[in-house]
Amino acid sequence: MTVPAIEVAGVGKRFRRYRERPTSLKERLIRFRVTADDFWALREVSLEVPEGSTLGLIGPNGSGKTTLLKIIAGILRPTEGSVRTSGRIAALLALGAGFHPELTGRENVYLNASILGLSRQQTDRLFDDIVGFAELEEFIDSQVKFYSSGMYVRLGFAVAVHVDPAILLVDEVLAVGDEGFQRKCLDKVRAFQREGRTIVFVTHAVHQVLQVCDRAVLLNRGTVQAQGDPGEVVRDFRLLMMKKDLAYGWDQGTKEIEIVNVEIFGADGASREHFRPGEAVVIQIDLKANTPVSDPIISFALHDQQNDFVFGTNNDWRGSRFPVFEGKHRVQFTLKSLPFVGGRYYVTVGVHARDASRVYHVHEQRYWFDVKLGAENPGAVWIPVEFRAEPL
Ligand SMILES: Nc1ncnc2c1ncn2[C@@H]1O[C@H](COP(=O)(O)OP(=O)(O)OP(=O)(O)O)[C@@H](O)[C@H]1O
Ligand SMILES: [Mg+2]
Repeated sequence: MTVPAIEVAGVGKRFRRYRERPTSLKERLIRFRVTADDFWALREVSLEVPEGSTLGLIGPNGSGKTTLLKIIAGILRPTEGSVRTSGRIAALLALGAGFHPELTGRENVYLNASILGLSRQQTDRLFDDIVGFAELEEFIDSQVKFYSSGMYVRLGFAVAVHVDPAILLVDEVLAVGDEGFQRKCLDKVRAFQREGRTIVFVTHAVHQVLQVCDRAVLLNRGTVQAQGDPGEVVRDFRLLMMKKDLAYGWDQGTKEIEIVNVEIFGADGASREHFRPGEAVVIQIDLKANTPVSDPIISFALHDQQNDFVFGTNNDWRGSRFPVFEGKHRVQFTLKSLPFVGGRYYVTVGVHARDASRVYHVHEQRYWFDVKLGAENPGAVWIPVEFRAEPL
């Protein structure tokens, strides 16, 4: 049985936020008014990180990732809830955190290592490796205030990975180094994984989460919005970011025409979710007009698991129009032959005005189907192939 190396139970963190109230210039000249309110940067956050596993922590800016890492690291105290960790924690948090700007790189290495519980002799033994890893031999006796942001991160990461931590917390910093150093960091992360160390890894580079994490957690406005398989959580994150971008709402629209029902079925007319490459898929949409609408466009789109747009079309492009759309209609898009070799595909259906100025109704990626081939693994797309042989 695996023991959790980190256990976060019902953690909340309340901050006091000061802000200047918008007042008139005159009022401002008379008195400088500042108000404060409390807000929760984290609320009801519970998660476990099993020993030896790697957790990816993702979420929009300000969602509470850094705050959570600081609480796990013991730098911040939670307002409510509790955190339990086992083993030495090395945390590589915000840029340069933990470094003293007036001290040299060398002095900071010793200072940092001692904070992490290493003796002077232990640090002496590690010193050359740390500096070598950071590739900062030439600059190690300069004050770190003269370091570039990349140099800061290199030194911070080098210290963190050389102090033999059981738990490594990394906040967003890998993005700062150049490509060579990033690769070196990822190699180190992989080595740590093999050695059975526990890692929590905050990043906006979601491909890194897919590459290195066993599990992922999505934070949004201080709460856990999704957790589990990195692929699924990254998808949820991308959907969340997309929702923010949408001019219209999620499953919304002005509803002059409504999507009443959507079905996905095969050529045989039976509803299903699993298909093989080359098969036909029917996307059937039942629509109801609440008022007569002229020339609406009915469209569908497919996105893959990475939320990349794969294909889309509409009635107009297929040569069909509704001069006036009234009452109820059933429309079908028949994908005659699936070109995919595998994967899950998400279906968006929508009805909007021709110039897209009005969205009547959209179901954004509410439906999906899987494509799966047997044992063969033929590559990127499905090409129907005929094979022939004859004696010559
Ligand atoms: N010491 C503090 N005092 C007041 N508010 C704070 C403090 N630290 C963080 N916050 C606020 O808490 C919220 C969460 O911040 P946090 O830095 O944890 O977000 P984040 O997910 O790391 O964001 P980013 O992706 O931008 O790094 C933000 O609204 C931030 O302004
Ligand atoms: Mg942060």
